[in-house]
Amino acid sequence: MKKILIFTMLISLFSCNSELSEKEKLEYTVKGKEIAKATFDALSSQLMAKMKAGGPAEAVPFCNLKAAPITKQLSEKHNVVIKRASDKLRSCDNEPTERELEIINNYQNIVAEGKELKPILELDSTNAKHFYAPIIVKANCLVCHGKVNETMSVKTDSIIKLTYPFDIATGYNEGDVRGVWSIAFNK
Ligand code: HEC
Repeated sequence: MKKILIFTMLISLFSCNSELSEKEKLEYTVKGKEIAKATFDALSSQLMAKMKAGGPAEAVPFCNLKAAPITKQLSEKHNVVIKRASDKLRSCDNEPTERELEIINNYQNIVAEGKELKPILELDSTNAKHFYAPIIVKANCLVCHGKVNETMSVKTDSIIKLTYPFDIATGYNEGDVRGVWSIAFNK
């Protein structure tokens, strides 16, 4: 009986801890959005500069070598762990967790229903704050993620396949959910 009581107390203590106030939710959603935007800007500005300089032949090796260090540098700067995950992967570094995959699928359903996508802020299994937001395909992503022989050239596809032989991150249209920003705040 005593054991059951202690166990119940522990559970209630734990569940108290694992709730976020509306204020915290709002605060960390704003922070998450800012960090995702800063990471997107850093990745895409450098990528587009490489595209301009030498097309996909220069931009693809750049992504391969620099996407991870740029993301890591910004993670350290903001004291978080920044990740981009997708259900259709190009790089195996970006493999989704079960939760990330679930969120991507939910976002895809919401887009299919024509409804508005919203970021998510929740506590993870370690009680750390975790931010998620959709990554949407824009027109200028299609050169490397579009439909082969339509919006994406066969040549670019073969350049990508040299580095990523198992790439399945093509065939997208503008407005599709490409994946998710997943940002874990350090405690
Ligand atoms: C020059 C070609 C190129 C362009 C343009 C491009 N990407 Fe990528 N993308 C890549 C490569 C190469 C990778 C794998 C390396 C990495 O970034 O992790 C990648 C990976 C990704 C990933 C990580 C998931 C995965 O499959 O590995 C996401 C998300 C993504 N791209 C979204 C976008 C979006 C959104 C745009 C447009 C704003 C875009 N990309 C434009 C080449 C490109």
